[in-house]
Amino acid sequence: MKDSPFIYGTTVSEHSFTNRESETAKLQSNLLNGINTTIISPRRWGKSSLVEKVISEINKTDKNTKTVIIDLFSAGSEEEFLETFAREVIKSSSSKWEDWMSSGRDLFKKLIPKLSLGIDPNTDFSLSFDREELKKNSDEVLNLPETIAKSKGIKFIICLDEFQNLSSFNGYLIFEKKLRAYWQRHKLVTYCLYGSKRHMMTDIFNNPAKPFYRFGDIMLLQKIETKKWIPFICNGFANTGKQIDENIASLIPSLMKDHSWYVQQLAHYIWNLTKAKATIAEVNTALKELINANSPLYQKETESISHTQLNLLKAVVKGETQFTSTIVMQKHALGTPRNVSKNKSILINSDIIHEINNVYEFVDPAFELWFKKQYFNQNYTIV
Ligand SMILES: Nc1ncnc2c1ncn2[C@@H]1O[C@H](COP(=O)(O)OP(=O)(O)OP(=O)(O)O)[C@@H](O)[C@H]1O
Ligand SMILES: [Mg+2]
Repeated sequence: MKDSPFIYGTTVSEHSFTNRESETAKLQSNLLNGINTTIISPRRWGKSSLVEKVISEINKTDKNTKTVIIDLFSAGSEEEFLETFAREVIKSSSSKWEDWMSSGRDLFKKLIPKLSLGIDPNTDFSLSFDREELKKNSDEVLNLPETIAKSKGIKFIICLDEFQNLSSFNGYLIFEKKLRAYWQRHKLVTYCLYGSKRHMMTDIFNNPAKPFYRFGDIMLLQKIETKKWIPFICNGFANTGKQIDENIASLIPSLMKDHSWYVQQLAHYIWNLTKAKATIAEVNTALKELINANSPLYQKETESISHTQLNLLKAVVKGETQFTSTIVMQKHALGTPRNVSKNKSILINSDIIHEINNVYEFVDPAFELWFKKQYFNQNYTIV
């Protein structure tokens, strides 16, 4: 059997990547022209995939530009970040391990890195510093890409995923100022900063009181449109010897409200169930499977929110918009106007709901279907 043409759970950049032509062109042009760029979107719409795609294009065409992608998901401290940053920058600056070792020795004036090669010296090496010294001389690491770029006549593009994680470090406020102060002066290095906590990212980059305000271009990544998902799904089936009609295919993005991850997940489940040609019955079974697979997560999510927040979610389902009107507050037991506004910001900040043109909706379309079934016994089966 052929592999599924639909992929979710990891980033997609080659196979299974679709659309985003204008975003790809814009990001590529920004990064090649020295325009620092921040990408913000709700979770799992495709930020990391877009960056990987653009970086792999740049790697193919632009040999003089070295690229680095660092995921800060597990970075626990400023020092750890600095070591990772230094290692990855050195690694990407050359494909020869002899160069890595000499860069490590020659590029620092005050810091003395400890270097060692990994099990496979062609792909790995490790680098560490005395932590006290590192803290005092972090400028040497933060300026490292610019220093290497100057000495080798190259350029760097540095992409930092889950950037908002830096804000959990001790002493972040001072560190943030330092980062901005050095990076802003770099002429040969371009930064692409993105992350999945939308509200933290917005606060870092869109708050005039913060150092990263106006650091560069902010791209608010949108969803891929329904009409663009349909041919992607139909071709995915056709290329693997199966079939799906356009009208059945169109149910997938419409049920999943064009949410990238879920469109791929539902398409994969349907593809998996389909022998020759997909039918409504397969869509329904797949949808049920998808919601069942995710329901422990949704269960946990609702357990972590308060009773009045839950009521507010129910009011959202019912299409209410005037949450602080007396009738709405009473009808849904939302508490006081203060409760309402506090709960609303909690739900928005934790990316459970968002506001689009004065209407509130769930950020997660499958969670919404589960929620409607759970609390209002609304069926999601298509007839
Ligand atoms: N351009 C695309 N074409 C097709 N599918 C996509 C595309 N971008 C993303 N996806 C789907 O969405 C999923 C999530 O993508 P990705 O991890 O890039 O999103 P993200 O915005 O970085 O998520 P997070 O906010 O969790 O970091 C992928 O696993 C893939 O299934
Ligand atoms: Mg991501």
